[in-house]
Amino acid sequence: MRSHHCPNRIMFPLPFLGLALVLLISLVPPTSSCTEQEKSSLLQLLAGFSQDGGLAASWRKDTDCCTWEGITCSPNRTVSDVLLASRGIEGSISQFLGNLTGLLRLNLSCNSLSGGLPLELVSSSSIIVLDVSFNRLTGGLSELPSSTPARPLQVVNVSSNLFTGRFPSTWEVMKSLVALNAKNNSFTGQLPTILCLSAPSFTVLELSFNEFSGNIPPGLGNCSMLKLLSAGYNNLSGTLPDDVFKVTSLEHLSLPNNWLEGALNGIIKLKNLVSLDLGGNELSGNIPESIGELKSLEELHLEQNHMSGELPSALSNCTQLITISLKGNQFRGELTKVNFSNLPNLEKIDLLHNNFIGNIPESLYLCSKLTALRLSGNHLHGQLSEKIGNLKSLSFLSVANLSLTNITRTLQILGSSRSLTNLFIGSNFLHEAIPEDDSIDGFENLQVLSMSDCSLSGTIPGWLSKLTN
Ligand SMILES: *[C@@H]1O[C@H](CO)[C@@H](O)[C@H](O)[C@H]1NC(C)=O
Ligand SMILES: *[C@@H]1O[C@H](CO)[C@@H](O)[C@H](O)[C@H]1NC(C)=O
Ligand SMILES: *[C@@H]1O[C@H](CO)[C@@H](O)[C@H](O)[C@H]1NC(C)=O
Ligand SMILES: *[C@@H]1O[C@H](CO)[C@@H](O)[C@H](O)[C@H]1NC(C)=O
Ligand SMILES: *[C@@H]1O[C@H](CO)[C@@H](O)[C@H](O)[C@H]1NC(C)=O
Ligand SMILES: *[C@@H]1O[C@H](CO)[C@@H](O)[C@H](O)[C@H]1NC(C)=O
Ligand SMILES: *[C@@H]1O[C@H](CO)[C@@H](O)[C@H](O)[C@H]1NC(C)=O
Ligand SMILES: *[C@@H]1O[C@H](CO)[C@@H](O)[C@H](O)[C@H]1NC(C)=O
Ligand SMILES: *[C@@H]1O[C@H](CO)[C@@H](O)[C@H](O)[C@H]1NC(C)=O
Ligand SMILES: *[C@@H]1O[C@H](CO)[C@@H](O)[C@H](O)[C@H]1NC(C)=O
Ligand SMILES: *[C@@H]1O[C@H](CO)[C@@H](O)[C@H](O)[C@H]1NC(C)=O
Repeated sequence: MRSHHCPNRIMFPLPFLGLALVLLISLVPPTSSCTEQEKSSLLQLLAGFSQDGGLAASWRKDTDCCTWEGITCSPNRTVSDVLLASRGIEGSISQFLGNLTGLLRLNLSCNSLSGGLPLELVSSSSIIVLDVSFNRLTGGLSELPSSTPARPLQVVNVSSNLFTGRFPSTWEVMKSLVALNAKNNSFTGQLPTILCLSAPSFTVLELSFNEFSGNIPPGLGNCSMLKLLSAGYNNLSGTLPDDVFKVTSLEHLSLPNNWLEGALNGIIKLKNLVSLDLGGNELSGNIPESIGELKSLEELHLEQNHMSGELPSALSNCTQLITISLKGNQFRGELTKVNFSNLPNLEKIDLLHNNFIGNIPESLYLCSKLTALRLSGNHLHGQLSEKIGNLKSLSFLSVANLSLTNITRTLQILGSSRSLTNLFIGSNFLHEAIPEDDSIDGFENLQVLSMSDCSLSGTIPGWLSKLTN
């Protein structure tokens, strides 16, 4: 998961600030200054803050508001930007900001603002970027009066607040929307896909971590420029509608942890997909052979569904794959069907708890970038090959319960791995004797070693105590 930390504000060292001030003052023609009305709107904003993060020192009545911290003006001296992210501000957002008729960008993200988002900002005839993410704003997003003409908003970020209620149905006047980020609130009702009908330039629709429910409603098919659709961790149900598969511009489709059902077959129309995350749903059916046509696919997450069938050999045509996560399904058949040597970028393979049979495919040992390999919870068998030494980045290996034999040999093979930190080899080597001599060493970075349920005999060996990490 991407990090969602608010950036720290960069403080310039004083000499630099001094220089910048001198430059600024010398550039500003002495006659022009912001209007009294603009100044008073900003002071109304300041008055609404119970904690202003030190702004009052700069926002002085007797100075030109275009020189105030966080404020930028257009050449005609109207305020164009109010950029006050990450300043520790508390209090509310004043509706008087709506009086700044030339305001283009408002960024109040990463503060502790509370109260509602004033209608005046959403319905502004000038604002194109509105970012109030990472605050404690409450209430709903305002419906717009029915007579509202087309609005210029392009980027709206209300993510990580405490907003509730249904998404407004009157936002079709936002004809210029490019990005809407409403992640991590408590929005309810249907996904606002209807926005696609009016805003054809949508490229980012980020709605995850809310309480949206019901089927995915029609509309998405009209978002012909959409690159990212993210609505995971909601309460969506029903099948993936054909409308989704019409959005051939999609690069990232992320709908994990919902109640979506049905099969994946339509997915192959999305030829530009880079990441597909449908984990934690109720999906069934198999991975279609045609998945091989998704030539840009890097991330494939289908874990914790009810999918079945064999892995299609065409999976090895997805040569850009970095992650394959299929754990917790009913996939079956031999893994050797897939030629892993065509997947040189693979870093993570998680097949935990499926019904795969047969041997560990030799071609896996050619995926030299592998960092994590989990095969436990299948009916695989066979032995680890010395070639596992090729996997110089392998840090997590789980091969428990695969009928492995000869614990001495297995530990000798794995001991030379410098990258290995987590090793799970339990439920193998039944009734063998644990090696007690110094033929076992290495494991320089091993932190977790699980050898449970092996019914090993012997005494706890000395080499174990040498694994200092
Ligand atoms: C300024 O904004 C307030 C609150 O939205 C509004 O009542 C007032 O009419 C506006 N003043 C002007 C001069 O536009
Ligand atoms: C000032 O310039 C901005 C941006 O160029 C424009 O949107 C606004 O209408 C202008 N305001 C006035 C009062 O001329
Ligand atoms: C708002 O400011 C923050 C901090 O500088 C930045 O990370 C974010 O991208 C800005 N928002 C927009 C929409 O540009
Ligand atoms: C809010 O979301 C917009 C659009 O996705 C993004 O450009 C902006 O950087 C985000 N703001 C923060 C503080 O992450
Ligand atoms: C959700 O928002 C809260 C409050 O802003 C924040 O602490 C948390 O990290 C966010 N969680 C996600 C998954 O974005
Ligand atoms: C939405 O897409 C359908 C076809 O997928 C098209 O018939 C319709 O005209 C589009 N609507 C708008 C408003 O673009
Ligand atoms: C999610 O949907 C199910 C029915 O599909 C319902 O029983 C449940 O209460 C919903 N949960 C939330 C948090 O809305
Ligand atoms: C996979 O690649 C092979 C050989 O390059 C080709 O014959 C086959 O048709 C491809 N399959 C798919 C589904 O793309
Ligand atoms: C797997 O692919 C590699 C490289 O494309 C090829 O050399 C090898 O013969 C293939 N192996 C099998 C078993 O098809
Ligand atoms: C080991 O795998 C078998 C099936 O192959 C299963 O029946 C058994 O419960 C597994 N044992 C453990 C400890 O997971
Ligand atoms: C186990 O492997 C070692 C080599 O590491 C070999 O010397 C030994 O004979 C093997 N034991 C059995 C029972 O095959």
